[in-house]
Amino acid sequence: MPPIATQTVTSPTNEERNATLKLRGSSPPSEASSGRSRLTAPMQYQGLLDKYESFELTPSLGREFKDLQLTDLLKAPNSDALLADLAVLISRRGVVFLRDQNISSEDMMELSKRLADATQRPRESTLSIHPLESDTAPEIMVGGNPKTTDISASRQRKSGGISRFYDDVSRWASQAFHTDISFENVPADYSMLKINTLPPTGGDTMWINTYDLLDKMSPSFQEYLSTLEAEHSAEFFHDEARRLGIKIRPERERGHPLNKGDHLTAVHPVVRTNPVTGWRSIYLNKGFTKRILGVTKDEHDMIFDYINRAGFQNHDIQCRFRWGKGSVAIWDNRCTWHCATFDYEEERAGERASSIGEVPYFDPKSVNRKHGLAQEGKAW
Ligand SMILES: [Fe+2]
Repeated sequence: MPPIATQTVTSPTNEERNATLKLRGSSPPSEASSGRSRLTAPMQYQGLLDKYESFELTPSLGREFKDLQLTDLLKAPNSDALLADLAVLISRRGVVFLRDQNISSEDMMELSKRLADATQRPRESTLSIHPLESDTAPEIMVGGNPKTTDISASRQRKSGGISRFYDDVSRWASQAFHTDISFENVPADYSMLKINTLPPTGGDTMWINTYDLLDKMSPSFQEYLSTLEAEHSAEFFHDEARRLGIKIRPERERGHPLNKGDHLTAVHPVVRTNPVTGWRSIYLNKGFTKRILGVTKDEHDMIFDYINRAGFQNHDIQCRFRWGKGSVAIWDNRCTWHCATFDYEEERAGERASSIGEVPYFDPKSVNRKHGLAQEGKAW
């Protein structure tokens, strides 16, 4: 094996770039295109989960179920319909919480796959594979199949990951807000996290509703943002790979044929449409967005800083979850940011599964969440 320092970084070919670019633009999506959602209209919630007791964390986002076991949904005779309703609920509320779950790692992977499949994502989309691969790295392939990622605070402190932000001089807790794997051409739709080991206090996770973040902007600024694209990058994984003595395997697909190679950079619209709800959201994030394109660097700095501050400081579009052992959160990365709170010394560990959705696109006919709810006459 050649020394890792001599590894070359393969950029996508023009053909690959064009293939991705062609997938953007307005709806209706064509089923023939790889990377397109196969939905031709937003999905409707059928009310199948109404029999389970639940409450909203805030008016903006988050719903917690009191007695629902995810394994019951998987085993039910009408499980496909139940999972479709769960997906719609998550996409509309941003994040859903369940406590004391008995779900195994294998069932988490099955649920992750079936939940995303229920939304008619592209046929080629499967489950997220982390770009770093080693026996100790997350999301390794086991027997040819992806497994859940072991999330561990002690390992994160060693390897970096998103917690590398704590090397920043500022050390503001909000620095680590992100949306999962937006550096991929076809990023994650849903992510699921189960916490198995937790400190007596601390380690809460926060979410921000990026549908409502868009609504914090004036209509003219929203229209401007919807004309822009931005570059997202996780090239820092190359440094991390060198530090850990492992390699990024460019030949392996990471959940979609367009997620391949060791060029860990993608361009996405700044405002995207969620095909499940038909609502618009901001799709920039502190973790992976490197540059808004087509504007000067100073303009990028101002716009990006403003959007981040609007999210971090408007606590009416946030929710915070205090985990218990066996708690599960499932969120939609297209319309939320999330951030763990690193305010503990003890071990905090769990498992994560993320599914791959569609190539992000902006549909000019899509609407803001509040506008959409008003049109439908619904509260959520
Ligand atoms: Fe994350």
